[in-house]
Amino acid sequence: MPTRRDVLTGLAAVALTARPLGAAAPLDLRAAAGRAQLAPEGYAPTPVWCFDGTVPGPEIRLPQGARLVRRLVNDLPVPTSVHWHGIRIDNAMDGVSGLTQEPVPPGGSFLYDFALPDAGTYWYHSHTSSMEQVDRGLAAPLIVEEAEGPDVDADLVLMLDDWRLDPETVEIAPFGNLHDLSHGGRFGNLVTVNGRFESRTPTRSGARLRLRLVNAANARIFACALQGMEGWIVALDGMPLETPELVAAPLTLAPAQRVDLIVDVTAETGSEAGLVSVERDGAYMLAAFPVQGSAARTRRPAPAALPPNPVPAAGDPAAAPLTTVRMRGLPSAEHEGVRLEPRELMERGLFWALSGTAGRPERPILDAARGEVHRLALVNDTAFPHGMHLHGHHFRALGPDGTPGPLRDTLLVEAGQTQQVVFVADNPGKWLLHCHMLGHALAGMTTWLRVS
Ligand code: C2O
Ligand code: CU
Repeated sequence: MPTRRDVLTGLAAVALTARPLGAAAPLDLRAAAGRAQLAPEGYAPTPVWCFDGTVPGPEIRLPQGARLVRRLVNDLPVPTSVHWHGIRIDNAMDGVSGLTQEPVPPGGSFLYDFALPDAGTYWYHSHTSSMEQVDRGLAAPLIVEEAEGPDVDADLVLMLDDWRLDPETVEIAPFGNLHDLSHGGRFGNLVTVNGRFESRTPTRSGARLRLRLVNAANARIFACALQGMEGWIVALDGMPLETPELVAAPLTLAPAQRVDLIVDVTAETGSEAGLVSVERDGAYMLAAFPVQGSAARTRRPAPAALPPNPVPAAGDPAAAPLTTVRMRGLPSAEHEGVRLEPRELMERGLFWALSGTAGRPERPILDAARGEVHRLALVNDTAFPHGMHLHGHHFRALGPDGTPGPLRDTLLVEAGQTQQVVFVADNPGKWLLHCHMLGHALAGMTTWLRVS
């Protein structure tokens, strides 16, 4: 028999958790320490930081136009926050600690609740001390589905990452290596796909697959090619291409970039198709697709373009005002309002500047009125490539003749290259612009713009 007291506490609990009809309780997203079998079988699992106990974290998959509602619960020993990379999001939900929200302290929580305007392949990751936190495993795919998706036999996310593990203990190597920060970034010695050393997905000859590639690595630029498969690029950084493009040359994915492919398995039964990584000294299998049986169909026609997302058109880019964002290594630069010499910058772990400022400046690099069209000239005056990411917007890189290319949120700018981009500043708020080689972002390559 329940006592009267049990009943009363039960009722009180009901009253406390009562919500308006129709509103479901938000799901939790728990950031905590965990373990993941990153190294091959036979090695110990690696201590990681992760969402909901897995590396990568749980795939969130919602229909276009839905709201994403998650209560971040921080069970880490350090403050954290979540950035929803590539979502044209409400600024307060962008997850940049110190700019759009306070970091969530250990034991604290934060309710993320926002609309998903665009279909496509996105991802979410920590945006507090991201150099370390993303590298320790706080990253996961976010898939927004089209109302009517393409006709495929499977829809698979391949999240590429690399890890720097101690070869003996397979623990994540310590952070704070200044050589990483001042050079190409923190490269790993173990590449994983969806958190696994080996990725094998059985398929059939003739099957048509949608592959969603996400580069979650800290610094590694992946160059990928197809083996035993033929296919088309249908979207970049979530945004559909107007016309699917046949995969010919290797696909380049800078950190944070995504590529959606639709591929047809051409390999015969008993052989192996796959996504391979192309490197200077040869190629190796990233994700294998052992072919077992045949889908027994005739070859399908090329896929149609995915439905476009509601991104406003920029009009004639030549008419848009131009802001220069100059990337430099080891200049004398401004930091927190003070001019410092290279040595003083190095002492603070700063090795890079954007337009003369190392680290996020007090004032935005651009103040745009809502709805204005703007150009940025991303000038790479350094000896390294940089993958520049703008929050809250997608932009188009301009070709040599000024023609706008496909929509992107992260652009690889090669050493010595200048790349102009155009975008409609239609999303009010404070938006970060930074290199997504996270060591570079930490060591100075971070700025921001404001739309009001
Ligand atoms: Cu994917 Cu500023 O981040
Ligand atoms: Cu960089």
